Amino acid sequence: RPRVLSGIQPTADSFHLGNYLGAVRQWVPFQDTHEAFYCVVDLHAITVQPDPKELRHRTRVAAAQLFAVGLDPERCTVFVQSHVSEHAELAWVLNCMTGMGEAGRMTQFKDKSAKYGEGAASVGLFTYPILQAADILLYHADQVPVGADQKQHLELTRDLAQRFNHRHGETFTLPSPFILKEVEKISDLQDPSAKMSKSSSSPQGILDVLEQPSSLRKKVMRAVTDTGTEVKADEVDKPGVTNLLRIQSALTGTSISDLEARYAGQGYGTFKKEVAEVVVDAFTPIRERTEALLADEEKLDRMLAIGAERARAVAAETMTKVRDRVGFLPRG
Ligand code: TYM
Repeated sequence: RPRVLSGIQPTADSFHLGNYLGAVRQWVPFQDTHEAFYCVVDLHAITVQPDPKELRHRTRVAAAQLFAVGLDPERCTVFVQSHVSEHAELAWVLNCMTGMGEAGRMTQFKDKSAKYGEGAASVGLFTYPILQAADILLYHADQVPVGADQKQHLELTRDLAQRFNHRHGETFTLPSPFILKEVEKISDLQDPSAKMSKSSSSPQGILDVLEQPSSLRKKVMRAVTDTGTEVKADEVDKPGVTNLLRIQSALTGTSISDLEARYAGQGYGTFKKEVAEVVVDAFTPIRERTEALLADEEKLDRMLAIGAERARAVAAETMTKVRDRVGFLPRG
């Protein structure tokens, strides 16, 4: 079976609608067609120095949410990145094969580091995409389901895989990004020109999967719409309405043109009310299952230990090969 790998950072108290529609929802069907590995990337999360207690909590919440959306530990491997030390080890090897200029061109680093003073962002944040490449290459992933913002990191991953293979002989599989056009970039509800983002959106701009229905409804009703009254997809003149249409279409399976026809002549009020209900209906069961999983931390930790063991078996095999090819002495 072909392999799939993806990851999500435990950097907030919940996934948001962008994470869910752009990435995590696609992870579920891959369980049946691929050998699937999904990790909560806590090594990536420490690039911005979170409080340790908060990180521990958020890592469990993230893992519980992954199980709650339908990842089944019998059919796929869900694990925490720091439990498999090969990720950090391969990242080091790849760091040594990446040019400073090459890493410096990553737009996500430029965006994320902009809020720090000149030179104040961590070196870890700078090499973040190289750790991501290690995550993917360790498992020989063929497909990587992500949102559009990860395209450049996937290109770097392919370049590094190719470079290593060229220098040391065929070792890594070249991965392809799996990006669904219709949901590749879910926008901030308050600023439809920006993506919905854990780190840069205001709370009003984000819909969290674990949020209470009353709060979700309020945020959707207050979402920025556009001038005019027509419910119509138009990226340029109606980015706010277009974003809501995309959300409703993705969550209901109804095409955007059918939705446009349904709201013809009705204005924004009814439309937004229905979008809010669709979001509440999608999130409520996930929130309830997440809460149930978090109520038994020991069981959750055991599920993650099993995942880590399975992941480690694959990662260890890859690293044995890598160490040898790079020229490290065998370990006695
Ligand atoms: P993270 O946690 O920032 O985002 C998780 C996933 O959510 C997608 N996403 C979005 N998709 C559509 N619209 C949005 N507004 C939106 N916001 C976020 C992201 O594209 C991502 O797929 N660097 C990764 C984490 C990672 C990873 C990996 C991914 C680490 N190692 C290996 C794949 C493979 C990230 O951005 O996580």
